[in-house]
Amino acid sequence: MKKTTIVDIARMKAEGRRIVMITAYDALFAKIFDEAGVDVILVGDSLGQVVLGLPNTLGVTMEDMERHTGAAARGRKRAYLIADMPFLSFQVSPQEAIRNAGRLLQAGAEAVKLEGGRNVEAVIRAIAASDIPVMGHVGLTPQSIHRMGGYRVQGKTDVQKERLMDDALAVQEAGAFAVVLEGMPADLAGEITERLAIPTIGIGAGPRCDGQVLVMQDLLGLFDEFRPKFVKRFAEMKKPVQDAVRAYADEVREGKFPGREHSF
Ligand code: KIV
Repeated sequence: MKKTTIVDIARMKAEGRRIVMITAYDALFAKIFDEAGVDVILVGDSLGQVVLGLPNTLGVTMEDMERHTGAAARGRKRAYLIADMPFLSFQVSPQEAIRNAGRLLQAGAEAVKLEGGRNVEAVIRAIAASDIPVMGHVGLTPQSIHRMGGYRVQGKTDVQKERLMDDALAVQEAGAFAVVLEGMPADLAGEITERLAIPTIGIGAGPRCDGQVLVMQDLLGLFDEFRPKFVKRFAEMKKPVQDAVRAYADEVREGKFPGREHSF
C-alpha cells in the first residue's frame, strides 16, 4: 500500500472519503494499526493517562513525546504520523513552539497537533510558516481541564457555539491542514465541518465530521478507569489479556510451564 501523505488527507475530504485516525504510543501497536490500514496515527498526549499513569495530560513532557513519537514512527510504514505538542511546549512563544514542533518532526512525526483556537492563531501561523504541518484541536481541549472545570462537553450555549465556530475558522485561517473537534454537540461539529475547507476529525463530536479518532486503549477495551459515552469498545481485550496472564501464572506455579517442548 502507498504511503499516506498530507495531500491524500486533503483529497479525502474533497472526495467525501472518511479519514480513520487512531492513537498509538509505541512501535508494536503503530505497526499493528498500520497493517490494519488506518490513515493516520496520532501519538497523543493521552500518553499521560493511558501509558504513563498520570492523572491528566498536563505532566507530559517534550521528552516523553519525542521518545514515543520516535517509537511509533519506527513501527509504522504507511500511515501519516502526527505528534501532539504537550502542555507548555507551544504556549510560551511562537519561537519556542517552532523549535518544539521541529523536535517532534526530527523524532519522526510528519505533523504536529496542538490544542486551542483563536488564542493560538499566531502559534499555528508561525509553525505552519516553518513548513511544519499543523493539526488544530478545538472544543474540549484536555490541556485546559482546569479552565473548563473538568472534561465537559463544550459549545452547548449559542455564545459558546459561536466561539467554537470562530476557533475552528481561526485555526484554518492560521494555516492548519486539519482540525480535531472534541466533545461538542454533533450538530455544531456538522456545521463546522461544512463551513471549513480543511478536514475535521471528530471525537465525541458526532458522525458528520470528515474523520474520527479514538484512543487505542478505549476502542480495544483495555482502559476502564472511566467509559465516556462517545467511546465504542470494538473489542474487550482486558479480559483475554488477564486470562492469558492468569493461565501463565497457574502453569508456572503448578510446574507445568516450561515443558520439555520449551526447553533446550
Ligand atoms: O491526546 C490524544 O489522544 C488526543 C486525541 C484523543 C484527539 O488528542
